[in-house]
Amino acid sequence: MIQHLLHISHVSKHFGGNVAVSDVSFSVEEEQIFGLIGPNGAGKTTLFNCITGYFPATSGDVIFDTKKINALRPDEVCKLGMARTWQRVKPLGSLTVLENVMVGAFSVTNIAKEAEANAKEQLQMVGLNDYATKSAGSLPIGLKKKLELARVLATRPKMLLLDEICGGLNHTETDTILDIIRGIRKKGATIIFIEHDMKAVTSICDRIVVLNSGEKLAEGTPGEITTNPDVIAAYLGGGHNA
Ligand SMILES: Nc1ncnc2c1ncn2[C@@H]1O[C@H](COP(=O)(O)OP(=O)(O)OP(=O)(O)O)[C@@H](O)[C@H]1O
Ligand SMILES: [Mg+2]
Repeated sequence: MIQHLLHISHVSKHFGGNVAVSDVSFSVEEEQIFGLIGPNGAGKTTLFNCITGYFPATSGDVIFDTKKINALRPDEVCKLGMARTWQRVKPLGSLTVLENVMVGAFSVTNIAKEAEANAKEQLQMVGLNDYATKSAGSLPIGLKKKLELARVLATRPKMLLLDEICGGLNHTETDTILDIIRGIRKKGATIIFIEHDMKAVTSICDRIVVLNSGEKLAEGTPGEITTNPDVIAAYLGGGHNA
């Protein structure tokens, strides 16, 4: 039987008169890498905010691991095993790289030694072990994105929501991040991946949902999405500000 880890059911989010997300439904299977794409302002980050408790959906349900999580706070959602990265990475610049990851680790333990061991394991996973004692604020963007991944991995999530984790990176840096993400999935995690770089999206995602003006425009495999006339007209055909 197919295991669905996350069900989004008829989710809408209104900001006053602005409908940022409108009646969106989809399901993500365990160990899937699921892409969420669409033009700027399509509602991708807003949907992440509804899923992870940063603000509640105006209507609809978010079911994670068979539990309805609509009304939970971000820390409660995190404790259930869901972690997200931010479109604009903002590490705690005055702390070291290791300490930043330990902040994530303290969500699963109160014991400093355990948090440190966990953080070191995650730095190894993303290839940042040589930077452990460096100030996080001093890292270039490519390494800050890796640090962001390590920080969320330290919460030991079942599901990771990655908001433009490859944004601002060159091709080599992007390929490195994609390899790390494949490694994370191999260890059993499920991933939702927001990204504008279609080469990255099609190379890593099993399935993709396209949002446009808050609505679900299409869902399918990378092959189905890249040849879908509606998706080409609204997003892939050019003219969008990716
Ligand atoms: N906190 C907020 N208050 C009011 N409006 C908001 C808020 N957050 C998002 N919006 C609006 O919701 C809509 C969707 O924005 P969102 O940031 O979710 O788009 P996105 O798909 O993530 O875009 P991008 O690709 O540029 O990151 C936009 O019209 C935006 O102005
Ligand atoms: Mg966004």
